Amino acid sequence: MNNTVLICGNTNKALAASVAKSLNMPLADAKIDRFNDGEVNVDIHENVRGKDIFIIQSTCYPVNDSLMEILLIADALKRASAGSITAVIPYYGYARQDRRPRSKRVPISAKLKADLIMVAGIGRIITVDLHADQIQGFFNIPADNIYYSRIISDDILKSGHERCAIISPDVGGVVRARAVVKKIENSHLVIVDKRRQAPNKAEVMNIIGDVKDLDCIIIDDIIDTAGTLTQAAKALKQAGAKRIFAYCTHPVLSDPALDLIESSEIDYITVSDSIPLTAKAEKSTKIKVLPLGDLLAETIKRVIGHQSVSAMF
Ligand code: R5P
Repeated sequence: MNNTVLICGNTNKALAASVAKSLNMPLADAKIDRFNDGEVNVDIHENVRGKDIFIIQSTCYPVNDSLMEILLIADALKRASAGSITAVIPYYGYARQDRRPRSKRVPISAKLKADLIMVAGIGRIITVDLHADQIQGFFNIPADNIYYSRIISDDILKSGHERCAIISPDVGGVVRARAVVKKIENSHLVIVDKRRQAPNKAEVMNIIGDVKDLDCIIIDDIIDTAGTLTQAAKALKQAGAKRIFAYCTHPVLSDPALDLIESSEIDYITVSDSIPLTAKAEKSTKIKVLPLGDLLAETIKRVIGHQSVSAMF
């Protein structure tokens, strides 16, 4: 690891520090702050010539600033003759804008973001639970998407549920939920199918699969406003679920998520530290954090050692 350098911006210093701790390495000495007018100011204070650099930062709130920091750190590193630059972006913001539904006049922001990353000189990205695996194809560089499901499955096994239903809260999340089912004996897959029967009419939730008197564990990549999760929980309770738990990798938690979670049928939600929790979220008795640092550190080690990343899952 002698040729490796870790660096981060301001968005998730705690996660970067935990990766550095797991790798037993310091974070690089750099100043990443703002000019008086708000422009991002980057100054790397150590020699990076020929080094393999890992920039560790989610593109979470403040989304545009955190992206701009990554781009400008990469530009500074490229111009300082870094050997290779990898962006470790556990939460890849803008990923939900990945297509033009019904040919609407909307951007494909996830693709534009990928272009910006490549133009900045980044040669590889590592993400966690990318909203859709196909987004890897927006990059013309290696894009390793790693899966929080390994941590989720281990935690469910430790919790000792006798029999449980693993729930995908929408059709798009089926593959993610199925990966957990494969690891948990005595579990089966259940899908929540959301249907809006007419514009402006409330969504109807159809539960596909058996949940009666069972512990239900919802798996999702993102919890943003918590609408998806809390509505699914309500429908599951109506269908006879015993207790409801959830694992959501990326805790975006924008308003009114915390209020919805508090008043929901969900016992508790486990999230990763890909996005730092606000003070209010930290106080919630319904939110637990299972950290990502060791998983990211293992991935970085494998990338440096030219070992398989897919073998981890
Ligand atoms: C949707 O496809 C995603 O997987 C999440 O279910 C969604 O982004 C969660 O958003 P919210 O919490 O606002 O319902």
